[in-house]
Amino acid sequence: MSDTSNRPVLVVDFGAQYAQLIARRVREAQVYSEVVPHTASVSEILDKNPLAIVLSGGPSSVYAENAPQVDPKLFETGVPVFGICYGFQAMARALGGAVEQTGTREYGRTDLSVPTEGGALHQELPASHPVWMSHGDAVTKAPEGFTVTATSEGAPVAAFEDTERRFAGVQYHPEVHHSPHGQEVLRRFLHEIAGIRPQWTTSSILDEQVTRIREQIGDGKAICGLSGGVDSAVAAALVQRAIGDRLTCVFVDHGLLRSGERAQVERDYVAATGIRLVTVDARERFLGALAGVTDPEEKRKIIGREFIRVFEQAERDLKAEGDYKFLVQGTLYPDVVESGGGAGTANIKSHHNVGGLPDDLQFELVEPLRALFKDEVRRVGTELGLPETIVQRQPFPGPGLGIRIIGEVTQDRLDTLRQADAIAREELTLAGLDRQIWQCPVVLLADVRSVGVQGDGRTYGHPIVLRPVSSEDAMTADWTRLPYEVLERISTRITNEVAEVNRVVLDVTSKPPGTIEWE
Ligand code: XMP
Repeated sequence: MSDTSNRPVLVVDFGAQYAQLIARRVREAQVYSEVVPHTASVSEILDKNPLAIVLSGGPSSVYAENAPQVDPKLFETGVPVFGICYGFQAMARALGGAVEQTGTREYGRTDLSVPTEGGALHQELPASHPVWMSHGDAVTKAPEGFTVTATSEGAPVAAFEDTERRFAGVQYHPEVHHSPHGQEVLRRFLHEIAGIRPQWTTSSILDEQVTRIREQIGDGKAICGLSGGVDSAVAAALVQRAIGDRLTCVFVDHGLLRSGERAQVERDYVAATGIRLVTVDARERFLGALAGVTDPEEKRKIIGREFIRVFEQAERDLKAEGDYKFLVQGTLYPDVVESGGGAGTANIKSHHNVGGLPDDLQFELVEPLRALFKDEVRRVGTELGLPETIVQRQPFPGPGLGIRIIGEVTQDRLDTLRQADAIAREELTLAGLDRQIWQCPVVLLADVRSVGVQGDGRTYGHPIVLRPVSSEDAMTADWTRLPYEVLERISTRITNEVAEVNRVVLDVTSKPPGTIEWE
């Protein structure tokens, strides 16, 4: 590992939600990156010793009231700068170029024209190619020392560069998939104009994290709660790689897991990592606490509360047995960026996560994924040899099947839903659809019955709902158009194999208005 591998490229966030995506794209070019707010001063930026700075997209006009500006001193620091969209205009303005309201707005797919001499950013790219634009104002004159290297109908200066000073910028959004050559342009800025060596690789991430964890924990002991999901599984495996069996994992079986999930953790995950695991069987306790409860929010609160109690008891037991000072958590980079600013969103559903710790349980947190995006976490997991079933797992809610039984949660109903869910998952996997769908909740309408006919007899059974969704981030979602043959197989098998079920229905609602989970 070289000394530059953890110096970041800083993406200055002008508040248009593109900054995190840009940071991911920078990392895809194998260069470490971090997001900083546009309120960061030049000296705060320099304190981070950046390899380069990317100014992101933002509000539509640099002339808008309170539009954030770029401190011209930034350009005297010797650090390479790349401006994107709003950042491009702010850069042009700070360096003495002209930005005007030309009246020709461009939104969406636009053709970019690249002259024969495309400069360092665009050379050898097609003379005309599509890019994604979103601007009202346009740069009409590049600052002194800059060459204009691309134009479009609405943007006389659609890209410029000054390779001498290692500055460049583009009016369009290179970070989105609708700009097919965008990643190549970003890569050229980073590697060729800024001269940064691509060193941020999965194995460098792994080495660096292991070193850091060892520094933090020393010869201490750590506890990690496993949920069966990707984040806690990778966080624990990293810590295990660093400190071996001074890490103990706790897995709470609340009885609301899907078929085979406990075995995946107890058998496959342990076999792959050699991790020391304590399973707490709390199935009875959760069933008892949920008896008679039908309200979704009440269910969520009960499951969250019981989970924390069980987990804390496990922590106390471990503390009594050894000196555990550290608690491992699978916090990811987007959580870190998002909790650093911005107003909270409305509370649609109370999500349960292991929250604040009680006073008598004092732990120092170890968060080895704090710098990573989800796709990087998956790659680290694969590099650590974790089973594919865990690394590529689709999201599954903490309250588990408890919020997929509409009505009271009972042992029989859980068994019914578990069977139906296992069939749906098996068929989706066999059809090769796992990567295409974001997740597919299977829901039991336990308080609904409908008439059916099976064999020679009349039945009066429950419906099962299939809820396959496509999504980028679960904030919005669309229902996935699954092939009819796959739906047919799932439906036939569920109605044949699951005793209490005589009907399978498909949820064709997007989010909004419907949430992904039914409760
Ligand atoms: P909704 O139903 O709000 O779900 O559209 C959005 C995403 O969040 C997952 N989800 C949860 N995840 N604890 C979790 O860890 C929860 O309580 C919870 N509730 C919903 C859901 O599966 C989807 O991916």
